[in-house]
Amino acid sequence: MKQTTGESAKHAAMEELKTRSMGKVPNLCAPGHPLVWGEGSLAAKVAIVGEAPGDKEEQLGRPFVGPAGALLDRELKQAGLDRKDIWITNAVKCRPVKEISKQIVNRSPTVREIRGWSETLMEELEIIAPQIILCAGAVAARAIIRKDFALTKERGRWFNGPLGTMVIATFHPAYILRQTGEDWDRTIKLFKSDIRKVAEAIESGEKEPEAHI
Ligand code: URA
Repeated sequence: MKQTTGESAKHAAMEELKTRSMGKVPNLCAPGHPLVWGEGSLAAKVAIVGEAPGDKEEQLGRPFVGPAGALLDRELKQAGLDRKDIWITNAVKCRPVKEISKQIVNRSPTVREIRGWSETLMEELEIIAPQIILCAGAVAARAIIRKDFALTKERGRWFNGPLGTMVIATFHPAYILRQTGEDWDRTIKLFKSDIRKVAEAIESGEKEPEAHI
């Protein structure tokens, strides 16, 4: 696809940042667990930030391509948003793992990992310069909105984020996938409503968030 001047500048800046970020891998990633970089449109109006890559993401070297990604893609589509028009990335850029009975399994990222990647995440978002950032889960919301962000209480509300970008947080799709019965019904309904808010804000070119940090 042909890139505009703005996009080729963004492409160069993103490549430079990615190359520079490789230098953080030995310090911030377990041996053998590579960088999984963001992907999507460099001209995206919406950036989605998740927590960290899982095993499928690591295998394919792409964010949100496992079961959580499938749920995210489906709900984006239902709200009239196309993944390819969005920038999708993670707060932590390599898969956090632990060993249990000689098996390598996912774990939550540590504060050290989240802090270690935070400057990279901010630079990445600065290059994309989206109108809206959607934080998928508490790790992303705490990295972007506020350290003590309370997801259950504060999801679905607009905040004034870095670089004046409107930011909203929702449940992490992997969390929704772990719910059953009424909890599933409740969380998926709220997730749909949060994504719809993003779609509507983009459609209406809304500028004013209703809450500020
Ligand atoms: N969960 C995340 O937070 N990010 C991914 O890329 C995949 C699963």
